[in-house]
Amino acid sequence: MTNLAIIGGTGLARLAGFDADRRETVETPWGAPSAPLAHGNLNGHPVIFLPRHGDGHTIPPHRINYRANLWALQQAGVSAVVAVAAVGGITRTMEPARIVIPDQLIDYSYGRSHTYFEDDLDHVTHIDFTEPYTRKLRERLLAAGRDAWLTVLDGGVYGCTQGPRLETPAEIRRLERDGCDLVGMTGMPEAALARELGLDYACCAVVANWAAGKTAGEITMAEIEANLNRGMADVAKLLEHLVKA
Ligand code: HPA
Repeated sequence: MTNLAIIGGTGLARLAGFDADRRETVETPWGAPSAPLAHGNLNGHPVIFLPRHGDGHTIPPHRINYRANLWALQQAGVSAVVAVAAVGGITRTMEPARIVIPDQLIDYSYGRSHTYFEDDLDHVTHIDFTEPYTRKLRERLLAAGRDAWLTVLDGGVYGCTQGPRLETPAEIRRLERDGCDLVGMTGMPEAALARELGLDYACCAVVANWAAGKTAGEITMAEIEANLNRGMADVAKLLEHLVKA
């Protein structure tokens, strides 16, 4: 049974080296996931791929049905999820096109359906979130990065903002004071929902731009696209090595 899923983010709507054998349309008690699940092979190894923002990249971060996405993957027999995500770089080493495997997060998002544990409960449930990303899976990603001869940064605090707008420089300064190294819009509630379902989960973040106020001038979509093109080519290499190991 396939047990690895890759959730693709901005810049990774299609995964290089991935051949889909079949696309499965799924309904869950929480509604429909972002797209049909693509069952296939990444360089000969079974993987399920799900584009977080939908097949046509039309679903903004705050409208993604995170509960349906993770539920559908678990129903399909997945036990480990690698979440690829575009982020802004805040601290010095988080430069554009760099791959980072964060080890902590802070959630600034709001109004998202963020838990499976709210109605019809036998008892109130509090998951442990001391390590929000599964250590073993993080280590596998870092090892795959080494095997692929890539520079991959080990650790960092991911701040999850609401979007879809980018942040103000003052907001980025606040995130930096809080200890955030990276800023993205989709890291939560995805990570927490994966933990609620008992799935292994780790984030493979790709820096798309310096966060607001870290460079002179505005952040342009052209700059984000160019950096993601470079970074996602490296992500594809990393994932090839991950599935091989
Ligand atoms: N902020 C939030 N999310 C992002 C950014 C950013 O600067 N870049 C890519 N995703």
